[in-house]
Amino acid sequence: MKALVVGNGGREHAMAWRLAGSPGVKVLITLGNGGTGAVAQSIPVKPSDIDGIVRAAKNESVDLVVVGPEAPLAQGLVNRLNEAGIRAFGPDKDNARIEASKAFCHEVLDAAGVPAAGYHVFDDPDQAIKHLSTCPLPVVVKADGLAAGKGVVVATTREEALDAARSQMVDRSLGDAGNTVVVEEFLEGEEASYMVITDGDYVLPMATSQDHKRVFDGDQGPNTGGMGAYSPAPVLDDEVQKHVLATIIRPTLAELARRGTPYKGVLYAGLMMTSEGPKVLEYNCRFGDPETQPVLYRMRGDLFTAMQACTDGTLSGVNISFDPRPAICLVLAAENYPAKPRLGDVIEGLGNAARIPHVQVFHAGTALDDDDRAVTSGGRVLGVTAAGETVREARDRAYKVAKMIKWPGMHYRQDIAHRAL
Ligand code: AMP
Ligand code: GLY
Repeated sequence: MKALVVGNGGREHAMAWRLAGSPGVKVLITLGNGGTGAVAQSIPVKPSDIDGIVRAAKNESVDLVVVGPEAPLAQGLVNRLNEAGIRAFGPDKDNARIEASKAFCHEVLDAAGVPAAGYHVFDDPDQAIKHLSTCPLPVVVKADGLAAGKGVVVATTREEALDAARSQMVDRSLGDAGNTVVVEEFLEGEEASYMVITDGDYVLPMATSQDHKRVFDGDQGPNTGGMGAYSPAPVLDDEVQKHVLATIIRPTLAELARRGTPYKGVLYAGLMMTSEGPKVLEYNCRFGDPETQPVLYRMRGDLFTAMQACTDGTLSGVNISFDPRPAICLVLAAENYPAKPRLGDVIEGLGNAARIPHVQVFHAGTALDDDDRAVTSGGRVLGVTAAGETVREARDRAYKVAKMIKWPGMHYRQDIAHRAL
């Protein structure tokens, strides 16, 4: 069997690595990165090239295309592949709107009666500015469309709130993504990520996890794509998970099915555990990055079969479990990330790091140079993923390996998993 992974970041390396462990499965990947060569064959098609992916999947007789990032899902890659008779893991274009439009997401949550922040939607900058001039603070200003993690501003002052709306709606800093803006009530609590795989009917929960969005220790500094994650998230214990499934995940899936086609693929709920119970901060229509690294590291069972069953509507027959040992993923980032990162530096120490047991270093923003050395090619460079008998052991392992790896300007958070300790 052949699987084609679309995307080339840390999440896709983890998916390719896990898929390559499925018996009899050969893995291809769009471009790939400096680390994916060990588990997947690179094909010269960009993850954003929808026509190219459909063509390559046909030419290579791919049995299953696994779509990592949100952008090709929102552009309808799964629809295009299905029209061409190719199985694809991920939601269709309409269902991907749950992530691609924050206004649509709220509409679905309202109709489904799912708890979330109070909100207002604005198409007109003057109306948004009028509202933001008097609303309670802090307040959250969100570009409606996809903005690669840059579309959300948690404003603590009036000036920040007004600046965010002006920047997104008037200066068009995020392009069309900011044509519409959603202004949300600020929610307080601990955040957690809850991902499930669903075939539209059956729901297969993944292990729980928690991300660290801010660039600096103590959740300071600007938001990033995620600086580290751990799994499980103690705040999502069995009781809370049951509650989230019953009051959040299932009603959302029922409402999406009522509107059109059933949702298939990964549904990722970003949750805030408020004093009134868990509320939805956002939905993603794909696996989280870096959450996927520790979650798939812990996964036991055949990921290819599970994903194929998801596309076929036979997910209820699939057996997946998770290693009870906790795992953490520590993101090593390039200098200046999340602003424009310094690129092109040779990464040292990967060979030694690869020899440490219970650790897997997933590559994200890396490439191979002419001498086959791994060099930095993106902001989030590596995800050092480690398991341990305890969170502390997993964390100590990941930090020990991080110290073995070097390039100029490398930085990472020192406090990943502090909440679980
Ligand atoms: P999102 O991409 O919508 O999850 O937003 C990114 C981050 O902004 C979240 O992980 C939260 O840390 C924060 N955030 C988003 N919405 C809210 C909200 N309504 N209240 C408080 N924080 C929020
Ligand atoms: N780590 C957050 C995300 O994948 O959206």
